[in-house]
Amino acid sequence: MEVTAWTSLHSTINAQQDRRPLSRASLRRIAAFARPHRRGLTLFLLLSVVTALLAVATPVLASRVVTAIVDGRGTGTVTRLALLIAVIAVAEAGIGLLARRLSATLGEGLILDLRTAVFDHVQRMPVAFFTRTRTGALVSRLNNDVIGAQRAFSNTLSGVVANTVTLLLTLAVMLGISWQITLLALVLLPVFVLPARRMGARMAAMQREASTLNAAMGTQMTERFSAPGATLVKLFGRPADESAEFAARAARVRDIGIRTAMAQSAFITALTLVSALALALVYGLGGYFALRGSLDAGAVVALALLLTRLYAPLTALAGARVEVMSAMVSFERVFEILDLEPLIAQKPDARRVPDGPVAVEFDGVSFGYPSADKVSLASLEEVATLDARGGTQVLHEVSFRAEPGQMIALVGSSGAGKSTIAQLLPRLYDADAGAVRLGGIDVRDLTADSIRDTLGMVTQDGHLFHESVRANLLLARPGADEAEIWEALRRSRLDGLVASLPDGLDTVVGERGYRLSGGERQRLTIARLLLARQRVVILDEATAHLDSTSEAAVQEALGEALAGRTAVVIAHRLSTVQAADLILVVEDGRIVERGTHPELLAAGGRYEELYRTQFAPGGAARTTGA
Ligand SMILES: Nc1ncnc2c1ncn2[C@@H]1O[C@H](COP(=O)(O)OP(=O)(O)OP(=O)(O)O)[C@@H](O)[C@H]1O
Ligand SMILES: [Mg+2]
Repeated sequence: MEVTAWTSLHSTINAQQDRRPLSRASLRRIAAFARPHRRGLTLFLLLSVVTALLAVATPVLASRVVTAIVDGRGTGTVTRLALLIAVIAVAEAGIGLLARRLSATLGEGLILDLRTAVFDHVQRMPVAFFTRTRTGALVSRLNNDVIGAQRAFSNTLSGVVANTVTLLLTLAVMLGISWQITLLALVLLPVFVLPARRMGARMAAMQREASTLNAAMGTQMTERFSAPGATLVKLFGRPADESAEFAARAARVRDIGIRTAMAQSAFITALTLVSALALALVYGLGGYFALRGSLDAGAVVALALLLTRLYAPLTALAGARVEVMSAMVSFERVFEILDLEPLIAQKPDARRVPDGPVAVEFDGVSFGYPSADKVSLASLEEVATLDARGGTQVLHEVSFRAEPGQMIALVGSSGAGKSTIAQLLPRLYDADAGAVRLGGIDVRDLTADSIRDTLGMVTQDGHLFHESVRANLLLARPGADEAEIWEALRRSRLDGLVASLPDGLDTVVGERGYRLSGGERQRLTIARLLLARQRVVILDEATAHLDSTSEAAVQEALGEALAGRTAVVIAHRLSTVQAADLILVVEDGRIVERGTHPELLAAGGRYEELYRTQFAPGGAARTTGA
C-alpha cells in the first residue's frame, strides 16, 4: 500500500512534467488576471525604469570625482558631486520603498483574485468531486500554489523590466567609456546564459515535485487530524506506522528542499564568481591602459563600478528565467483546477420550482456513480491516472411518484441503492437515463436556489459544521429569528438540551457535531429542516445507534418535520413504514415491491421477510443502518 502510493505519486509528477513547456494559453490567462491591475502595474514599471536610471548615474558621478581629484580641481566640484550622489541615494531609497509597496499591493491583490476564483470554482463542483479528491491536496492548491503564482508576478515581471533597462543603460555607458574593455568583460557572458536555461527546467521540475510532496504531507495531516480520522486511528490505526509514513513524507519534503537550495546556490555562486573574475579583468586591463595613458583613472573606476551593476541585473535576469519557470508551475496547478468543468451545472434558462404543493417523481431512472476521470484530477487524488471505468450501474429503471403531501418509504437491504435514490433529488448527482422531477419539472431544468428552497434533506451521517448551534441552524434559513430557532428546537425535542449547554445557542458543536450524541446530532439536523420549512423532505434515517428513548424523541421530531410535506423517507423503523402512504422495496437498484404495509405483509414477499428481520417488534437486530 505504502509502496504503491509512492510509486503512483511519482508517476503523477512525471505525467505532469510532460505537459511542459508553458503554453501560450497559460500566459494569456495570466495576463487576464493582471488586467484589472494594469494601472498599478504601469506605475510600477515606470518606477523601475527610474530606479535603473539612478543606478547608472552614481558610478558616472563617482568617476567624475576621481577625475576631479586627479586633475587637481577645486574642492567645490568634489563637494557638489558628492552632494549629488547623496541626493541620488536618498531618491533611490524613497523610490525603492514606493515600488515595494506597489508590488506588494499588486502581488497580494493577485493572490486574492486567484484564491477567490479557485474557491468559487471548487464550490461549484459536484459532490462526486469531493468524494474523490483529498482535502489536503485541494487546500494546498489554495495556499501554496496561489502564493507561488503570485511570486512569478511580483518578483519576476518587475525584475525583468527593471533589470533589462539597467543592463542596457549600463552597457551603453560602458561602451562609451571603453568599448575594448567592455567587450572583453562580455566574453564571459555566455557562461551566464547557457547554464541558466538548463537550470530553469531543472528548478521547475523540482518545484513541481516539491508542491506535490507538500500536498501529500498536508493531505495526511488534514485526514488524520479530523475528529473522525483521529478516532479511526485510535481504534484501528497503528500510530507508529502513521508516524513513519508521515516522517517519510516530511523527509522527502526536506530532501527536495535541500536539493533546491543547493541547486540555487550553486547557480548563484557560479555567477558571482564569474562576475568577480570579470572585475579582475577590468582592473588589470583598465590599469594597464591607464598607465599607458590611453584611459584616465576615473574611467577605470567607472568601468569597475558599472561592471558590478552589469552583472547584478545579469544574475537577476538569468535567475528570473528559473523563477518564472517554477512559478509558472504554480499557475498551471491553479489553472488545472479552474479548468475542471463542473459535471452538474445550472442551465442558463433554468426555472424555479412552481409554487404550491410539490410532487416528487422518478421516471425510469438509471444511474451509476460517475467514473473518476469525469469528476476529478489525478493530481488531487495522488494517483497516476484516473480510473476511467464507468461506475457499475447502481439504479435500474426506478419509477415512482409521491403526490404532494404523501410520504413514501424506501426499504431494502444495505447497499440496495436507497441513499443513491435520495441523492438524485437535490441533484447531488444526475441520472444517466430517465428523469427525476420536482413539481413536474426535470430537476436538471431547475435553478439550484429553488431546489434548495424546496427540498430539505437529512443525510445518514447528519453532518454539522464546527460552529455554534445557532450557526448550524441558520445555515438553513439565515433570516430566522431567535423565537423561530427555539420553536424549531422545541419541535425537534432539543430545547431542553440546548438550554442546558454552557453557552446555549452559541455553544460550538465540534467538527461533525462530535460533542453531541448520535441521536442529538440527528435531531439537530431535523431542527435545521424544520427551520428551513421546505416543501419536500428527504430523510435518510440512521437509527442503528439510537437507544429507545432518543429514538422516541427522534420519532416525535420526525412527525413534526414530515407533517403536511411531501416526504421520501429511507426507513429503518416500523413506525415510519406503517405511517407511509406507499412503501417501495429496493433491492439491487430495482424497486421489487410496492404497496402499503398491510398489503405488502399480506403479499408475503421480500417486504414480509424484511419486516421479520428488521422492523417487527422484538425481531432480529436492525442490520441496515449507517
Ligand atoms: N459515492 C459512491 N461512489 C460509488 N459507488 C457508490 C457511492 N456511494 C454508494 N455507492 C454504491 O452504490 C450502491 C448503493 O449504495 P447506497 O448508499 O444507495 O445504499 P443504501 O441502500 O443507502 O444502503 P444503506 O442502507 O446501507 O445505507 C452500493 O453498492 C454502494 O457501494
Ligand atoms: Mg444509505
